[in-house]
Amino acid sequence: MKKLENKTVLITGGTTGIGFEAAKLFALEGAKVTVTGSNPATLDHARSALDGIADVIASDAGVSADIEKLAREIQAKYGALDVLFLNAGITRYGLITSMDEAALDESFRVNFKGPWLALKHFTPIMRRGGSVVFNTSCTNQQGTPYTSVYAATKAALRSLARTAAAELAESGIRVNALSPGPTDTPIHAKSGIGDAVRSVISRIPLKRLGTAEEMAKAALFLASDDSSFMTGEEIVVDGGMTRV
Ligand SMILES: NC(=O)c1ccc[n+]([C@@H]2O[C@H](COP(=O)([O-])OP(=O)(O)OC[C@H]3O[C@@H](n4cnc5c(N)ncnc54)[C@H](OP(=O)(O)O)[C@@H]3O)[C@@H](O)[C@H]2O)c1
Repeated sequence: MKKLENKTVLITGGTTGIGFEAAKLFALEGAKVTVTGSNPATLDHARSALDGIADVIASDAGVSADIEKLAREIQAKYGALDVLFLNAGITRYGLITSMDEAALDESFRVNFKGPWLALKHFTPIMRRGGSVVFNTSCTNQQGTPYTSVYAATKAALRSLARTAAAELAESGIRVNALSPGPTDTPIHAKSGIGDAVRSVISRIPLKRLGTAEEMAKAALFLASDDSSFMTGEEIVVDGGMTRV
C-alpha cells in the first residue's frame, strides 16, 4: 500500500531542493501533487522535470491574493486537500548591525506570513485525517552569528505549528514541522553564500551535509499516517549538529 494513495498534496516551493524531491517522492507514493514557485526560470525547469508527476504553478508564497487564488483552484480541481507541505522559504544572512530592514521584512513575508496565510486559506479545504508539515530549520534552536533574521522566522514557524496543532486537532488535521540541518540544495547559491555552507560540516557529527532526498523522506513520514499519533512536533534532521 502506497503511503499517500489518492491523497491531494500541495507543496509550496517545490521547484527546487527539498520541495522538488518531496514532489517526486510523494507522487511515487500515490499522491496527486501540486507545487508552487516564484522564479520563472526555476518554474520552467520544474515544469519539464515534473511533467506527468506534478502540476507546477506560479504562486508567490507570501502574497495573500496568490494564496487565495490557489486555494480556489485546488478546491475546483480536487474538491479538497489532504497534505499541505509549507516548504517555500528564503535565507538572508548578515550581522544584525549590517543587515538592512528590507531583508528582515522580505524574510518574514515569505518564511512566516506566507505559511500563516496558507493555514488561513488552505486548512478550511482540508479533509479530516489531513496533515500540515512546516519546513523550519535547526537554526531556530541555536544562537548562530549571521542568522538573527532567518532563525527568528523559523522559530516563529515552530511556534505557529504548535498553535495550529491545537486549533486544528478537532478538525482531525495534524500539524508538525521538519527541522532540517544544513542540506545540499540551491538555497545557498540563491542567498549568495554558495559553497561556504560546507564550512559547517566540521560542526556536524555525521561529517556531511544532508540531502534533499533525506529531507523529503522525513517530510513523507510527517505527511503520511506513519506519524498518525504526532501533532505539534518538530523533528530535527541535522546529522546530530544540534544534539551531539
Ligand atoms: N537547505 C538547507 O540547508 C535548509 C536547512 C534548513 C531549512 N531549510 C528550509 O527548507 C525549505 C526549502 O529550502 P531548500 O533548501 O530546498 O531551498 P531551495 O532549493 O531554494 O527551495 C526553496 C523553494 O521555495 C521557493 N520559493 C522561494 N520564495 C518563494 C516565494 N516567494 N513564493 C513561492 N515559492 C518560493 C523556491 O522557488 P523559486 O526559487 O522558484 O521561487 C524553491 O522552490 C526552506 O523553507 C528552507 O528555509 C533548508
